[in-house]
Formats: sequence, structure tokens, C-alpha cells
Amino acid sequence: MPPSDLPDTPDDPDALPLVDLADPELWQDPAAALAPAREAAPLARTTRGERVVLRYAETERLLADPRMRTVGARLLEGIGVTEGPLANWWRLVMFNTNPPEHGRLRGLVSRAFTPRRVDALRPRVRALARAHLEPILDAGPVDFEAALADPLPIAVTCELLGVPEDAWPSVRGWTAELGRVFATRLPDEQRARCEDAVRSLTSLLRTLFEERQRAPADDLLTALALATESGDRLSPEECEAMAINLLFAGHDTTRGLLSIGVAALLRNDEVVARLRVEPNRIAAAVEEMLRLEPPTLGSLRAPAEDIVVAEGLSLPRGAPVHFLFPGGNRDPRAFDAPDRFDLDRAGPRPLSFGLGAHFCLGAGLARMEAQEVLGALLSATRRIEFVEEPRLVPFATIRRFASGLQIRLTAA
Ligand code: HEM
Repeated sequence: MPPSDLPDTPDDPDALPLVDLADPELWQDPAAALAPAREAAPLARTTRGERVVLRYAETERLLADPRMRTVGARLLEGIGVTEGPLANWWRLVMFNTNPPEHGRLRGLVSRAFTPRRVDALRPRVRALARAHLEPILDAGPVDFEAALADPLPIAVTCELLGVPEDAWPSVRGWTAELGRVFATRLPDEQRARCEDAVRSLTSLLRTLFEERQRAPADDLLTALALATESGDRLSPEECEAMAINLLFAGHDTTRGLLSIGVAALLRNDEVVARLRVEPNRIAAAVEEMLRLEPPTLGSLRAPAEDIVVAEGLSLPRGAPVHFLFPGGNRDPRAFDAPDRFDLDRAGPRPLSFGLGAHFCLGAGLARMEAQEVLGALLSATRRIEFVEEPRLVPFATIRRFASGLQIRLTAA
């Protein structure tokens, strides 16, 4: 997490329960590791003294509070990147902007990225899910992540935007490189690869946007270029940055849902058995996958002014605040038996897509992809078994398995 200069504060951060993000084991089972701090107090602290919010109600209230500002720029500074192609792109990325700039970008992209456009893609996503599954049925041990969970989200976002199919493998490599900026460390050699990835994506998208100007198509690239609001529109650089943002925001995150979330499902044989006979519960299963194993660890904000959370507990102006979703998603104040995979759960929605002004723009798309993949997986198989218990990469805030998801699929 990025370093920070904590201003003087009236309440004593040392009195708060400690969350040790430097402990690699925390990253294996964050929900269990965070539970003691969540139960001890409404706020916790990192080893650097930064505040951590772990309860559902406080997360919901504070992420929706307009005084909480995004501090994306600090995320990059924290790993030593202040200039160059990566820093230049990062400055234009919507989730790093605050009002009024954020509202302007969000308004324009929302005109193009509509629920209707997502709905129209469902049959195509179903076909892609089946095509990715076909070669791995009855094929012995396979890496479900490499075969489906990683390539499928990129194929879907490329299809939505209108990126031609021959470019999908390259785009997949570049967005995977970019995903590495969501880490607590970025070695020089990795930084160079991230910078190359931004350059390559920018160049591809510039060409595609120029083509769309000559020949508009029924795709999101054309809609982004044409989106207008009160006479305003996205500049060519903003269009490129936004398209890269969408490609990359929808890749590692959705891969996490389709691999870490599917692994969570597979640990519950009775849930899998019930889904086979009640496919109408698949949407509920996806909500539980999101809740139990959020693909991203959380959000980072800093208050524009001091905010009192509870008596004697405040968030000082300008100091980073970590919202860690595995805490709130298993908060027993919000969810009964929070560790249970429950297809009949009536509780609130998981926090995994964030909340407030920056609520995930692709939540509907990611949910639809996961529903279609689960439907295809269950109808194509009669048995799904773990080959080995997967482990997660520590310190990756967009969570991922270290060696994929090794499973065996027996065809129906
Ligand atoms: C399971 C998959 C996904 C998860 C878990 C996820 C998670 C999130 C979270 C937590 C945020 C808020 C970040 C913050 O508050 O700092 C966010 C924002 C965002 N997501 Fe997603 N996301 C997913 C898929 C997607 C997809 C498929 C797309 C688009 C194709 C997308 C596009 C975005 C964008 C553009 C933002 C920024 C919104 C803004 O700043 O207004 N995401 N996502």
C-alpha cells in the first residue's frame, strides 16, 4: 500500500486493532485474517498507522460519502512511478479522478456503456463460454484459469468494444501486464513491461478509433467517440485512455471471479449439486462467489476533511483509508452465517464492486459473464474435481492464483 504522511490526529491510532498487510498469510485467507480486527473495533490500522475499514455498515456509509476522495495517483507514487507513459495514462483513468472531472467522464462513458449493450452481448458470451469449455472436457487435469477464466473476459470486452479477434491475444498480454500496477511493489523490469503495454494499447486503440471515424460501427468504440453530453465529448486521448481502462478493468478482476469464485463454489459439493437441478439459482451463486471471495481486496480513499466515524474514532483529512471487502462481506452484522455459501441468502449486496461514485461500471457485464460461464460449466459436466488446492499470490490487490486453478472436468 502507498506510503503516507499522517497528519496529527486527536485520537490515538495505536489503540486500534492491527491489520498486518505485510504478512503473506493474510493474503491466502483475508476474510479469516481480518475477522479479529473487525470484531474488535469499527476501525483498524495498518502497520503504517493508516486507517482500515472492515465492517459492512461503515464501508457502505463512508464509500458513499462525497468527502471521501480517490487517491489513485498516490497508488502509483507509492510504487515509485511519477512520470512516463504509465503515469500519463494513469492521470486520465476515470477511477483516479475526483469531481467535477469524474462526473464528466462517468456521464459520457455511461451514455455509451449501457445495460442494453451488455444484455445484447449475452448470447455471444454463452457461445464463447461453450467454445472455451469444449477442449477441456474429459481432458484430464486442466488449468481452468489458463483455458477459460483468463482469456474469456478479454474476449468479451474486446467484442463489446469492437477490437478485432486477431488482436485479442496481444491485448490479453498487455492488460495482464498493466494489472501488475495493483501491487505493493513494482520492480524496474516490471515497470518497463507495464510502460510498453500502455504504449502498445494506445497505438492499437488510436488506429481503431481512426478507423471508426471513417466507418462507424455498432460497437462501444464508436459509441465512446460519439458520446455527447451538454455539447461535451471525450477528446481522442480520453477515448484511448477510457478504452484501455475498460479492457484492463474487466480482465484481471473478472478472471478472479471466474477462478477464485469458482474454486469457492467447488468447495461446496451440495451447492454444486443443487445448482445442477435448480439453474435458476445461478445468479444467487454468482453473488455468493463475489461475496465470499471478492476479486479485488478493496478500495483506497482519503477524506477531504476530518470525518468522525464513532466517538473517539476519526479519519484525519488527507490520510489514506483502506476499505477491505473481505471484512465487510463476512460481517456477521450484515450477513447471517457469513462463511456459508448460501443460495437462499437475502442479505445486502456484496461490497465487491465498490460503492458510491466509483461503483464498478462493469458490474452488470461481470455478473452476466459469470452467470453464463457457470451455466455452461454445469450443463457441460457431470463432475468437477480439484486436482490440487490452489494458493493465492500474496500482496496482489487484484487477487490471483499462483499456479492457476487445476481441475478435472467429466463431460455430462
Ligand atoms: C468481477 C469483476 C469485477 C470486479 C470485482 C470489479 C471491481 C471494481 C471495483 C471494486 C471498483 C471500484 C474501485 C474503487 O472504488 O476504487 C471498480 C471500478 C470500475 N470498474 Fe470494475 N470490476 C469488475 C469488472 C469490471 C468490468 C468487466 C469492467 C468493464 C469492462 C469494469 C470497469 C470498471 C471501471 C471503468 C471502474 C471505475 C468506475 C469509476 O471510477 O467511476 N469492471 N471495479
